[in-house]
Amino acid sequence: MAILKLARMGHPVLKRTADAINDPTAPEIRRLIADMVDTLADASGVGLAAPQVHVPKRLVIFHIPESRAREALDDDMEEGEDEEGEDEEDEEDEEDEEDDEENGNGDAVPMTVLINPEIEALSDETVIGVEGCLSLPDMIGRVPRFRHIRYKALTPDGSNIEREVSGLHARVVQHECDHLEGI
Ligand code: NI
Repeated sequence: MAILKLARMGHPVLKRTADAINDPTAPEIRRLIADMVDTLADASGVGLAAPQVHVPKRLVIFHIPESRAREALDDDMEEGEDEEGEDEEDEEDEEDEEDDEENGNGDAVPMTVLINPEIEALSDETVIGVEGCLSLPDMIGRVPRFRHIRYKALTPDGSNIEREVSGLHARVVQHECDHLEGI
């Protein structure tokens, strides 16, 4: 277990496409995951991609603590009101709430490891939200993300994970997976 050094914006490792992992159960991958979990906790972050610790491999970790999950649910609703306004507001908000319940939005997500993740947008709908990144300390920005996605990946024990998610969960996964594309 170790706290790894974070790559900052401008480092070439953040600009390249990361390589697929052949064996998710390999000892060096297990070690990398343990170190990334420690590093993320030390930085009080939500997510971390392997390139951010100078390892150009397709692996990301993330979690959504209860406190963040609640905040995001509130933000999401406020934003919906701002953008939609007018007559349909009530109806759409109700639909949003139903969606949020179905997708477990507003719920915390335990520490999750995705190896060789793939993302598919489930609709064209995007949402703008504020994001930060451990590789760009002291900066935040408004970023549009798909509201609903499906993601597939391998887990550290070599099994498959497939989830349909929305809201903050979808946002975090999209942010971390961008790092694997050099974005
Ligand atoms: Ni980031």
